[in-house]
Amino acid sequence: MDKRTTILDIKKHKRGKKQVWLTAYDFYTARYLDAAGVDGILVGDSLNMVVYGHQSTLSLSLEQSLFHTDAVVRGSERALVIGDMPFLTYQHSISDAVLNAGRYLKEARAGGVKLEGGMEMADTIARIVEVGIPVMGHIGLTPQSINVFGGYRVQGKEDKSRTYLLESSRALEEAGCFAVVLEAMKPDIAGEITESLSIPTIGIGAGPDVDGQILVISDILGYDDTFEAKFVRKYADVASIIRDAAKKFAEDVRSGNYPSKDETY
Ligand code: KIV
Repeated sequence: MDKRTTILDIKKHKRGKKQVWLTAYDFYTARYLDAAGVDGILVGDSLNMVVYGHQSTLSLSLEQSLFHTDAVVRGSERALVIGDMPFLTYQHSISDAVLNAGRYLKEARAGGVKLEGGMEMADTIARIVEVGIPVMGHIGLTPQSINVFGGYRVQGKEDKSRTYLLESSRALEEAGCFAVVLEAMKPDIAGEITESLSIPTIGIGAGPDVDGQILVISDILGYDDTFEAKFVRKYADVASIIRDAAKKFAEDVRSGNYPSKDETY
């Protein structure tokens, strides 16, 4: 029997136990996150930055996202895996959006998709959900729109932006989203949105008054030792672990200490 978390399990969490989400992009990370008991794994388009080393998420292709989503699904057994639709794979037309969203379920066996945008995306989301594809919404700082925002800026500071966020969250719920990511916004507006919706809100840089939290795996592991953000808590220092292991290997190879007799056939 399939023991994979479903969107119904996720929806039940509303105002209950806080939900735990992390991003992952590969098989082994997915395996360990699954073993750690996370509720959901997002194969975020942050992939383009933290795996491929680009400055933004914009150039990620649908194929790249699908390959990594497939690896994460194979690495996990229990967590709900959501694929994050790249820039311009869902904004151009509703029919493109449905076909591209469907590829996550057909080719990568994901449990659903995430896409960015507020009320302006409601018709697209409604159609994707109508054909049987679960959708996670994403409002606030939506990184695919950084060129419009003028950078990575906290949202919900002005009345106009607060109204947009509140109305958009309702539009996403009405369109059929099973949950919505609230990214980089003032905590009081995130709290207000969480109170007003019947679907769970998953925050990233949105304060404590949400139904769950998501962070980028590379940030909590400390992969990039130059990256700092107010909302990120670092639980490991993988940059040092990799550097130290590589240095020790180099010393052993150069000194002839590796391979030993036991390590030789
Ligand atoms: O791409 C991503 O990792 C995301 C999360 C930060 C929510 O969208």
